[in-house]
Amino acid sequence: MIKVLFVCLGNICRSPTAHGVLERKLAMAGLANLVEVDSAGTAPWHIGKQPDLRSQQAARKRDYDLSHLRARQAIADDFFEFDYVLAMDNQNLENLQGIVPAGRADNSAELSRVKSQPELFLATFSSQGLTQVPDPYYGGDEGFEAVLDMVEDACDQLIMDIRKKL
Ligand code: 4NP
Repeated sequence: MIKVLFVCLGNICRSPTAHGVLERKLAMAGLANLVEVDSAGTAPWHIGKQPDLRSQQAARKRDYDLSHLRARQAIADDFFEFDYVLAMDNQNLENLQGIVPAGRADNSAELSRVKSQPELFLATFSSQGLTQVPDPYYGGDEGFEAVLDMVEDACDQLIMDIRKKL
């Protein structure tokens, strides 16, 4: 099983969008049973909430269902679980770098259990030369469409990378 974690700030706009997009693309590729997808926020503000309705509506127009998702906060143990920890922007990446188990002198076993380091989702997987998914929360509908455009493209590249590991 390969495990993918998407991370943004609130876990109600960008990372749940990526979560729903990747889930559906994996199902269409016949890979749903081989890859597990999750998402989280670096901030605790929206824990337990459904994705923002604007994200849900924009996603639904493209046949992605986000209604089953609930926000949670990223934790250090996520780095023991997930093969990919993919941040939406530089702030999320820095927040994650602050919680990666770094291993202490008296506990190098902890370091050896870390499966992944956080990386910028787009910097690694965009085919469009992009690096960050801009936060759409305080903007208009076009921001939510832009998130979907960027995330759909990068999920296609991510699936190609996952196939190499299966
Ligand atoms: P997200 O967007 O990180 O893509 O989920 C945001 C959601 C909520 C807030 C900021 C960004 N907020 O300030 O509550």
